[in-house]
Formats: sequence, C-alpha cells, structure tokens
Amino acid sequence: MSNTALIKFDEKEISCPVIVGTEGEKAIDARNLRKDTGYIFYDQGYGNTGSCESAITYLDGDNGVLRHRGYPIEQLALYSDYVETAYLVIYGELPNLKQRNKFSELLAENAAIGTQMQRIFDGFPESAPPMGMLTSIVSSLAAYYPQYATNNFEQDLKTFDLAAPMTISRIRTIVAMIYRYRHGLPFIHPRDLPFCDNFLHMMFSDPYVAYTPIPEVTRALNLLLLLHADHEQNCSTSTVRMVASSGANMFTSISAGVCALSGPLHGGANSAVMHMLQSIHDEGDDGTRFIAAAKSGTKGNRLMGFGHAVYRNYDPRARIIGKACDELLNRLGKSDPLLDIAKHLEQAALHDDYFLTRKLYPNVDFYSGIIMRALGIPTDMFTVMFAIGRSPGWIANWKEVASNTKGRIYRPRQIYVGATKRDYTPLDQRR
Ligand code: ACO
Repeated sequence: MSNTALIKFDEKEISCPVIVGTEGEKAIDARNLRKDTGYIFYDQGYGNTGSCESAITYLDGDNGVLRHRGYPIEQLALYSDYVETAYLVIYGELPNLKQRNKFSELLAENAAIGTQMQRIFDGFPESAPPMGMLTSIVSSLAAYYPQYATNNFEQDLKTFDLAAPMTISRIRTIVAMIYRYRHGLPFIHPRDLPFCDNFLHMMFSDPYVAYTPIPEVTRALNLLLLLHADHEQNCSTSTVRMVASSGANMFTSISAGVCALSGPLHGGANSAVMHMLQSIHDEGDDGTRFIAAAKSGTKGNRLMGFGHAVYRNYDPRARIIGKACDELLNRLGKSDPLLDIAKHLEQAALHDDYFLTRKLYPNVDFYSGIIMRALGIPTDMFTVMFAIGRSPGWIANWKEVASNTKGRIYRPRQIYVGATKRDYTPLDQRR
C-alpha cells in the first residue's frame, strides 16, 4: 500500500501523505491542501472527513462492529456494567478493583445538586420539555461549580479526575429531578446506592416509601446506559469536540453536546420511534402506511429507528437491546404490544427493496424505547436518558481535545454561494 496519495487537477499533481489507523482505516492527510493548491475538499455533513485521531471507539459501519478501547460492545454488554464501561471509555483501561471502587465513590459523593442550583428548576414551567431543561441546567454547571470547570486538562489533572465522575453523576441527578419537577413531585436526594439503583431511587422513591431495587430492572438500565456510552464522532460528540477546541471548559462543552443530542435525527429518535409505534397501535395499522410514507424519501417521513449515518449493516447495539427487551419483559412477566409492532415492522422493512438496497437496518433507538417503557420511564424522558448514557463518551472526547497540546481550533471552511459583491442601497431607494 502506498503511503502517499496523488491528487491530479488543473494539470497539476500533488502528493498527500496517507495516514493509517490501528484497525487499518486509511485517510488522505489533506491538511496542507488549501495552502498548496487553493482548493478545499467539499464534504457536506463531513461524511468523508476525519476530523481527528481518536483512541476511544472503533466503529466499522459496513460490518456492524463497535469496540470501546478495543473491547467489543458484545463483551462489554455481557460482562461489564455502565460504571466500569464509563471508566474504560474515559481512562482507556478497565479499572482494577481499587480504581473501580474509587470511581464509584466519587460518583456517589458527587451526586447531589447544591441548594442554590436547585432553584434554577423553579424558573421552568412544569410543561417544559425535558431536553430543553437539561440543556440549560447542564450548561449552568459551569456557573455553579466553576472550581471544577476545568479547561486545561494538562495542568489540571486532579480537577479532571473529580470533574469527570461529577459530570456523569450530576447529569443523572438532574435527569431524575427533571422528572420529579415536571410531575409536581418533591425532589428525592441521592443515597449511598450503586449508580443505577440511585437513579431509580431518585426517580421513583416517595418521601415516605423508598424505592425497592428490582435486579432485572437495574440490569436493564445498566445495559441501556452502557450501550449509549460512546459512539465515535456522532453529531453530539463532534459538537463537544468542536466547542472544546476553543478551550471551553468541560461542563460547557458537554452542554453543547446535550443540545446537539436533542434533534430527532440523533438522540431525539428514541421518542420519535415510540410515537410512531404508538400511532401504528392506535390506528390498528400493521405499519404498512409508515413504510409506504418512509419510501417517499422525504426527511419528515422517515422510518424512525431505521438507518444510520455510518452503519450499512445492523447496528450491533440494536441486536443486543432487541434481545434484552424480550428478556426483561419475560422476567417481569409483562408484554408490550409495541414490541410486537416493532418486530413486525422490522421484518417488513428487512424484506422491502427500498430498505435493502439502501442498507437501512434498525439502529439502537429502535428498541431502546421499549426497554425504557418497561422501566417506567415516560416517552418524553427518553432523550435525557440517552444523555446520561453518553456522558462518558463526551468526557473522553473532551479530554482528548483538551490534552492535545498541538490541536488546532476546529474551523471548517465553506463554499460561498450567496450574492457576489454589490453596493449598499439607501433605504429610500429600496423597492
Ligand atoms: N427511513 C426511510 N428512508 C431513509 C431512512 C429512514 N429511516 N434513513 C435513510 N433513508 C434514505 C435516505 O432518504 C436516502 O435515500 P436516497 O438514497 O433515495 O436519497 C438513503 O436512505 C440513504 O440515506 P443515508 O445517507 O444512509 O442517511 P443519512 O446518513 O443522511 O441519515 C439518519 C442517517 C439521520 C440516521 C437517517 O437514517 C434517519 O433519519 N433515520 C431515522 C432517524 C433515526 O432513527 N435516527 C437515530 C440515529 S442513531 C442515533 O443517533 C443514536
């Protein structure tokens, strides 16, 4: 394999170095292209652009492969849990017992939201959308806890070691508080419980009756969060890196990621899937109408939970979560007609030429909503749940940017297609 690539144009030929990743992925290093030639690459949506080198997550969309720090997602889902996987994603290695205990302690110690910060909730109407609340409240962490708002990883390693578990733990607490606030329920303070049980306690305890953990439920929540822990350069993670590249602190960079997650084509898809399944159920349809509409090719009619910007195969997380839905409902002795509809829809789409030729398969969001429903989490909370899960990935990516002393500020270029130069028209001469 050649270690340079030749680009030929305008009778000219330039040679660019080729970069090869540890899994053999190849990239043309075009950093000097504009300087040497005056040209830039046009790549709307950056689908062919490597914006960074990263050692966190490997994703092979053609073959449905996902690994964090080298470990296959299937093995992590089977043997690990959310807290351990969060540590792995952030620090690069599975923790030993001492490291794991310390990380769990820090998560527990940093779960509470200070009383001043709690007042921020009072400014929101009870009907406020959870993601709208989460974006504002997470961004306020930098104001309430400026001493942990580290923006210089190199000089501030100790602060980072506190700020990382604090971010994960507090996003979880904020999400539980959003739920309580919107339901007119009193806030429940965190206790000395494992991460997922503590979340369920803050969501579902009453001041006079403590929530009793159910092992199947805890396990399912762990799996759900673990499967969302990181996913390479997705929209929200790239946003975190973009903001981090300006030198912004970790809390602020992550709040930008939460904003990016809110869109229905990204994190918002999980609740959109549930609305779609519910309307199929309510209309007594078998999904034919949704599939036919999805084939129109318009963005507004897409089959939610299907397709992916990088997978051209089954999203491995969808396989794991689909199986977990069945197991959880069996163990809880429940059934969910929406799961049956989802399975039917999946089969119909997987036998339809439109989806086959475009390589559109279920993604993680197709089944994650069914699990959350079984856990008692309302549909409008699904995307904020995703945000808890993704926080280790955002932190790890922030850390890579902040610790790269040679990194440049992210600043893509554009092809300008607006009006060419023209002279200012005074107001009385305008039509
Ligand atoms: N339903 C119907 N058609 C679709 C769908 C879908 N869900 N997804 C893509 N297509 C079509 C596109 O319109 C395009 O058609 P064309 O070739 O005739 O123009 C073709 O399939 C190829 O599209 P892609 O290039 O694969 O899609 P893109 O990368 O632009 O978008 C995305 C990826 C946003 C995830 C898209 O598949 C989608 O909107 N899916 C539904 C929303 C969803 O489930 N999002 C969650 C993603 S996972 C996550 O963020 C956690």
